[in-house]
Amino acid sequence: MILEPTASAIKQAAESIRRGELVAFPTETVYGLGADAFNADAITKIYRTKGRPASNPLIVHISSVDTLSELTDALSDQQQRWIKRLAPLWPGPLSLVLPRHASVPAVVSAGHPTIAVRIPRHPVALELIRQAGTPLAAPSANRSNYVSPTCAAHVQGELGSAVSCILDGGEATVGIESTVVSLVESTPKILRLGSISKETLEQLLGTVEAPDTVARSAVALSPGMGLKHYSPRTPLQYVDVPLATQHQRIGVIRFDNRSIPSSLTPTVVHTLSQRGDAEEVAHKLYAALRELDEAGLDLILIDRCARTGLGAAIMDRLDRAVASDR
Ligand code: TXA
Ligand code: MG
Repeated sequence: MILEPTASAIKQAAESIRRGELVAFPTETVYGLGADAFNADAITKIYRTKGRPASNPLIVHISSVDTLSELTDALSDQQQRWIKRLAPLWPGPLSLVLPRHASVPAVVSAGHPTIAVRIPRHPVALELIRQAGTPLAAPSANRSNYVSPTCAAHVQGELGSAVSCILDGGEATVGIESTVVSLVESTPKILRLGSISKETLEQLLGTVEAPDTVARSAVALSPGMGLKHYSPRTPLQYVDVPLATQHQRIGVIRFDNRSIPSSLTPTVVHTLSQRGDAEEVAHKLYAALRELDEAGLDLILIDRCARTGLGAAIMDRLDRAVASDR
């Protein structure tokens, strides 16, 4: 059931959370599938509903940095300094991995001694967390490995029957998931790229390890970073990769208004941004993948962009979406 996020709808959703039920809610990145982070049974429901491997930990959402200490174990002076320096980015699309407080059920973090925490920058998310009076564990509200949802209708189609309600906060403005940064080692380390770029983090923290230097160990550190993720069911490949076979119905997702290769006669062409603006591409990307996945195509071809700033996060998601292992 999709609800307009009125005060009474948010109150009703908060009561569902307190009863141990699941609620889908909007954030600025993607929609989340939320449950009370302190209710282990409710957390188990999240994993079951998503078909998520028990090895892949969840992000916990709070409404203010004041409640961080309910979730984290004693923080070192260094960790406290890093968190203070990152204050300009919270609320926002940034998840921080810190030592987990013993009172948080281990299942939230898939048994890891750490916990990922984020303050989302969406008024409906913040109000839901406040009304529920408890932090919300929330992965993206999609079946495991599928494309993340960026509007309420995406969630309804996939998980509508599994949630008490879906709070409709409109289209997610950012459109791709938060940047995940680990603060549990001697140097801050990006575990998942997102719209907060390495450059921005380095301005605030100094040296930051990027995923390309940790690529081999990234899967072990952040199990959600395995290949084949964020994928439509329709075969997907980059537009510049030669076609292996003939295809009847091809869809093309372009990032700007350049003409498509003359060798192609696509059934559908989707242009995400006339000017190739990375923010606009990120904002529309997942909706376009979902729409073309529903269009009965044999193949979807997609553009590439420069791997700088937000472009690095876009390409990270696409590399996983086109990967052939499952
Ligand atoms: O933007 C987002 O982050 C969205 C919205 C709903 O907040 N959430 C989201 O959650 O994308 P999910 O579950 O789809 O992705 C969580 C990512 C995974 O890559 C997971 O492995 C990593 O965060 N993660 C969570 N807890 C972790 C931990 N303790 N240590 C390392 N990685 C962790
Ligand atoms: Mg996800």
